[in-house]
Amino acid sequence: MAETNVMEQLVSLCKRRGFIYPASEIYGGLNGFWDYGPLGALLKNNIRDWWWRNMVITPPIGPDGHPVDIVGLDSSIIQHPKTWVASGHVGGFNDPMVDCRETKNRYRADHLWVFRGQFSKANEAGAKQTFAIAEPGASEGDAKPAFEKRVTKLAKRFGAAEGYTVTNYTALSPAEQSAVWGPDATQAGTLTEPRMFNLMFETSVGAIRNEDSKAYLRPETAQGIFLNFKNVIDTTRVKVPFGVAQIGKSFRNEVTPRNFIFRSREFEQMEMEWFCHPDEARMWYDFWKQQRMDWWKSLGVSDAKLRFRDHAADELSFYSKMTVDIEYQYPFTAPDFGELEGIAHRGAYDLGQHQQHSGQKLDYFDQDLQLKLKEQGVSPEEIKAKSRYVPNVIEPASGLTRAVLVVLCEAYRRDPNRQGTEELLSIKPQFAPIKCGIFPLVNKEGMPEVAEKLYLDLRQKITCEYDPKQAIGRRYARMDEIGTPYCVTIDGQTKEDQTVTVRERDSMQQQRVALDKVKTYLLEKLGM
Ligand code: GAP
Repeated sequence: MAETNVMEQLVSLCKRRGFIYPASEIYGGLNGFWDYGPLGALLKNNIRDWWWRNMVITPPIGPDGHPVDIVGLDSSIIQHPKTWVASGHVGGFNDPMVDCRETKNRYRADHLWVFRGQFSKANEAGAKQTFAIAEPGASEGDAKPAFEKRVTKLAKRFGAAEGYTVTNYTALSPAEQSAVWGPDATQAGTLTEPRMFNLMFETSVGAIRNEDSKAYLRPETAQGIFLNFKNVIDTTRVKVPFGVAQIGKSFRNEVTPRNFIFRSREFEQMEMEWFCHPDEARMWYDFWKQQRMDWWKSLGVSDAKLRFRDHAADELSFYSKMTVDIEYQYPFTAPDFGELEGIAHRGAYDLGQHQQHSGQKLDYFDQDLQLKLKEQGVSPEEIKAKSRYVPNVIEPASGLTRAVLVVLCEAYRRDPNRQGTEELLSIKPQFAPIKCGIFPLVNKEGMPEVAEKLYLDLRQKITCEYDPKQAIGRRYARMDEIGTPYCVTIDGQTKEDQTVTVRERDSMQQQRVALDKVKTYLLEKLGM
């Protein structure tokens, strides 16, 4: 199955079965915005709760054998506008944007790759000289196979290339840029020079709209955590090292939202800021890097589709000393990978900036370190200097909506040999929106009464759906398509021997289980 096809089919299944709808669809949709339907909301909440559980409720065991300390937070989406000046977003959160005068399409200049060479079909058309064609790519980290895919695409349109070089559009001089053939244009020279474009959505606070009332929808959840660093220290019992975790909406006016919910303009993030002593930052960076990879695997994502990618020095964000991405092989990046989560060593950048811009002290007095240094016989001056510091931050930052996409991509299967439907979402049972379908085989002969009674009992513990209608095959098919791991059917035999059929989604195998044991059976299977 062609990879682009997989995405088309997945997007269509998500719409048809109520996972994800284009936002404002009855008005023609709004590019970059998506609504999560009944099943999408359940799936997203299951992933969100798992992250929260693993960060805040039962955080991992640290290198010293004790659980690390992480507290939760839910800060405002709109913060004081100075927040974003201090964080660097007002000045530096820009993407270079290029427009095509012919097609009116818009591209991110840093995602435009320019192939320079002689293309045979273009030569026939009379363009004998070497010329440049731009092709949009995923990211700066694109590997060779992705380029090759693009060359094949270009060859279809412009003929075979006799030799070419590849340059990023942003690296060309304005004169060179003005001669490039845009990705969708019919002639060269239609692309504009890149213009910087700030990604933050602006809004206004209060009745009067002017420069002073200007505010921003947060482009990341992280800053709300830094602004509350002192509050958390002063009002809870945490001591450095500790973390503050937050899940919530973020907004970015992305130049080119695309690939379904991969890059959208409104999305949800799951971020944790880990505050630690500067000397231990590298150790914690390595710790969180591994923890986070293990967490992605716990969602049921296969090892082979996950990898780490270290950021090169020239790719690091303005705040970062060191960043590693966890990447996933999405159907639209394969054989390449795309970003899923970033783990960044932010140093003392954020607390330092907010300290400077707010005039409030955001350092930390480390009593434990003070005692330790005292015991070591360190001089009082040195103890004083060393015990007060601005903590460093290690930040695992991931997208909740991107996690939904990964779980869906990973779960999507097509098998022509299956009965009822070829499509299946093989979601790990723990995250499946509906865990169990409960059906009377026919809607009579006392079966609905037994099924409904079972449903009323099971739904107290397990997210179930009761469905008495349609042929049984169609009911199974629908449950397969929405990823329901188990279906229980009450049939003619139930009345005779008090057993029911339990059908497992992936294997389609059916087993008879005693009616009064179904709950225990399912709870055990679901690991609950
Ligand atoms: N606080 C750091 C930060 O926000 P980021 O790499 O810009 O770092 C973190 O974002 C994660 O948020 C990404 O790895 C991705 O999963 C998610 N994310 C970022 N922009 C997104 C977008 N436009 N749509 C969906 N998810 C996005």
